[in-house]
Amino acid sequence: MIPAAELIQRKRDGEELADNEIGELILGYARGEVPDYQMAAFCMAVYFRGLSSRETFALTDAMVRSGETLDLGAALGRKVVDKHSTGGVGDKTTLAVGPIVAACGVPFGKMSGRGLGHTGGTLDKLESIPGYRVSLTTDELVEQVRTVGMAIVGQTAALVPADLLLYGLRDVTATVDQLSLISASIMSKKIAAGAQAIVLDVKVGSGAFMKTIEDARLLAESMLSLGKQAGREVVCLLTDMDQPLGAAVGNGLEVLEALDTVRGRGPADFTELVLDACARLLALSDLGVDLGEGRAVAERAVADGSAEATWQRWIEAQGGTTDETAIERAPVVRPLVADRAGTVERLDAIRVGLAALHLGAGRRVKTDAIDHAVGVVCRRKRGDRVETGDVIAEIHARDEAKAEAGASEVAAAYSIGDKPVYAHPVLLEVIA
Ligand code: URA
Repeated sequence: MIPAAELIQRKRDGEELADNEIGELILGYARGEVPDYQMAAFCMAVYFRGLSSRETFALTDAMVRSGETLDLGAALGRKVVDKHSTGGVGDKTTLAVGPIVAACGVPFGKMSGRGLGHTGGTLDKLESIPGYRVSLTTDELVEQVRTVGMAIVGQTAALVPADLLLYGLRDVTATVDQLSLISASIMSKKIAAGAQAIVLDVKVGSGAFMKTIEDARLLAESMLSLGKQAGREVVCLLTDMDQPLGAAVGNGLEVLEALDTVRGRGPADFTELVLDACARLLALSDLGVDLGEGRAVAERAVADGSAEATWQRWIEAQGGTTDETAIERAPVVRPLVADRAGTVERLDAIRVGLAALHLGAGRRVKTDAIDHAVGVVCRRKRGDRVETGDVIAEIHARDEAKAEAGASEVAAAYSIGDKPVYAHPVLLEVIA
């Protein structure tokens, strides 16, 4: 093997590395032969020098080869579709999309992750449902998708182990927010999990990795290119994360909002994104419908109760209770009222995300425990008119002191002014 120090030096000096060089480095790292300090230096060199599109694919491919792969499509004898979000505040989309898509007859077997920092993770949200099991064996996953239509589980350590190690390292070496590293990390997991068609939800704005539409486009294009090189169909949605998605931010609160949405009673922006993502997944599936028909089928599954029935079967199959009152509620719910009349000009997603994190809904470091009951419910969003004294948000807290601190943080997230504000749609752009 070429000495790692040589590869680090060449990348540091801006050279393009060969596919086999990147492959050896990554596989050597996954086997424990390349130490963390060399991989950290390599990531920092990549951070400053970037990777070409060929190098990014070589990295993705090596990451996939570092572990096992799953062929859910072959096991089910169906075309399998998947979705992924780059992460944001209040993003419970997977929880609502899964049962709707499954109710339409398209298998939905998804591996999800945990949250870190201000972004939430689907597994943490699901664990607010008493009894819900996030770890199923591959056989159990396949069987549940076959019989119930869907499953959402944690990613096994056997799938893309290089990403597990690399993500942990990037997290503590300030090398997470690098475009090629993010796209290789996301796409290696999607490719290894075996989906033939993938809808990627790339979040844009203060609560997202990508703060500008230009950066989000670059990430979308990079992931699209990786997917195509791996022979997968990919559609990227660029969606707004300047304000939280929907109203609820916090694990149990988000599960309840996702369930409301599956019942057709969700917040408008969240419902719109969920139905759009469902329509795109159905159009990519083997159902043989186009986007318009996919949307109509998804809306019907919500309206006729079949999506809700699928939700109940899915949660039960995974050991969770379908008794909504068993989802723990926070002991203190403090309303936050508007101190002036006007229009909500801004509701800063990152500030709401951090407020929820400080209330205990997220973790600062990987080993932190999560309080599933706490969080924030945003009753007014960008473009909404408010009168003095209107409740604009609710703070769900463990105690009064935390509620007080949370209320001032959330108050700082709201800008209420006199300008009329265009409440632009959640879906900003589609790249395919
Ligand atoms: N999500 C991932 O899975 N990986 C990244 O690098 C960033 C977001």
